[in-house]
Amino acid sequence: MSSNLCCSRVRLKISPNVRGRIKLRNVTRLCHTKSIITVNGQFPGPRIIAREGDQLLIKVANHVQNNISIHWHGIRQLRSGWADGPAYVTQCPIQTGNSYVYNFTITGQRGTLFWHAHISWLRSTVYGPLIILPKRGVPYPFTKPYKEVPIIFGEWWNADPEAIISQALQTGGGPNVSDAYTINGLPGPLYNCSAKNAFKLKVHPDKTYLLRLINAALNDELFFSVANHTLKVVEADAVYVKPFETRTILIAPGQTTNVLLKTKPNFPNATFFMTARPYVTGQGTFDNSTVAGILEYESPSKTKNLTTKRLPLFKPNLPALNDTSFATKFGNKLRSLNTQQFPANVPQKVDKNFFFTIGLGTNPCSPNNQTCQGPNGTMFAASINNISFAMPNTALLQSHFSGQSSGVYSPDFPANPIVPFNYTGTPPNDTMVSNGTKLVVLPFNSRVELVMQDTSILGAESHPLHLHGFNFFVVGQGFGNFDRNKDPKMFNLVDPVERNTVGVPSGGWVAIRFLADNPGVWFMHCHLEIHTSWGLKMGWVVLDGKLPNQKLLPPPADLPKC
Ligand code: C2O
Ligand code: CU
Repeated sequence: MSSNLCCSRVRLKISPNVRGRIKLRNVTRLCHTKSIITVNGQFPGPRIIAREGDQLLIKVANHVQNNISIHWHGIRQLRSGWADGPAYVTQCPIQTGNSYVYNFTITGQRGTLFWHAHISWLRSTVYGPLIILPKRGVPYPFTKPYKEVPIIFGEWWNADPEAIISQALQTGGGPNVSDAYTINGLPGPLYNCSAKNAFKLKVHPDKTYLLRLINAALNDELFFSVANHTLKVVEADAVYVKPFETRTILIAPGQTTNVLLKTKPNFPNATFFMTARPYVTGQGTFDNSTVAGILEYESPSKTKNLTTKRLPLFKPNLPALNDTSFATKFGNKLRSLNTQQFPANVPQKVDKNFFFTIGLGTNPCSPNNQTCQGPNGTMFAASINNISFAMPNTALLQSHFSGQSSGVYSPDFPANPIVPFNYTGTPPNDTMVSNGTKLVVLPFNSRVELVMQDTSILGAESHPLHLHGFNFFVVGQGFGNFDRNKDPKMFNLVDPVERNTVGVPSGGWVAIRFLADNPGVWFMHCHLEIHTSWGLKMGWVVLDGKLPNQKLLPPPADLPKC
């Protein structure tokens, strides 16, 4: 992540060799100065701009006291699982004073993704855009943009996020909510003391801008809109979609969306806000605030002197905080482009079916702790098929590769709920989860269908589930309990959206399909960080195939040790 890769709005020199120094830096937001963990001293972190087909060698050197690892969110990592990054899943974290070279090739992907720390809550400040341009000479399947602008949403705490999560896990209660949302690290004028700390996008009239939207917030899905402008959605999670126009987009943590913004044909005598605020379905407290950036038309040169005059200001109208009907409609509009050049290779047949319940639950208060702040004196937990995932203290991929998995994980993650119940009805009295390190083992090239069912235990809630190592197709979704006899008839096997993170609808279900063509151990978890911390995570082991090019390669020599 050297500085020549960074921070201009136009395309930059591509270098496959980047360096990242994890280090501390003082940053002031909301009139509050604190020392945060950064990459190369930048917040948000540097942009990585690569091209489809590039091999990236990224050396990450840890100069802080915390253990760290970096995940290249959405990169398929074909046979390069060692470079995926989730701590204790594909690698032990990089310890203080050590470094690790992430080595991977970007195959068959182009678009907007991002990178972030993948341990504890360090991704609250350690994140940045990962932009993959099409191969040289290959155009976008839409109007060539005049400029490309990454817009990365984040979440800011005045306190230390590591203290917040460790306190929450100790008390068993919900974590303190963030103090602000940010656009490119800046909270903007709707917060106290932040008027100058605003992201400003200067535009010219009658041009097309490609906004590369990334939600790197920890715990909130976000609505985003630009006053008096329409957005044309052209890509989701680095896969082209059938273009459609909308005033507002919805973006969950872990998701990315490219939109085209066409500026007004003539210089408007006005300034426009672009704002984002949360889409909320859960019962807990949340940060009910709004980040604003400013879209400003650069006045034609002859009127430059007039720019000091106060222009009228327009603000967008965002949907209500709990507008699930917007969420559903928006999700249904997303369709794969599905052209000859960019086909939707949806598995038409299925080898393995899975049905996972997704939701919150509780653990008993530990005996030496009398004051648990979770529901009814318990500790909050979260689970998949009622199993709250217990992190191992060595890396799962290493134990799998070396054939020493016994005692680290068991290969018996249940394909279905052990005790079926009315998932979206009156919640059961017993909300306790079980705890364990269980994985699903899949033969190479299995065609997998997975239905993820939200539960009403402790309240229905939308959960953005993220799968490492694969894109999947979102073949169906609905409300209430999934009906195995009826619902599959409605599945879209023609042009479903292909992505790496999907919202399990609040009080509903979503069905995805993917081809398990990538050997390794692949994490799957809710991208709401607090739910991951509470155990809403699991993993898939994909076995080697028979052919030499279907096998996981051996680990690199500098792979960190636990
Ligand atoms: Cu962006 Cu495992 O996460
Ligand atoms: Cu969740």
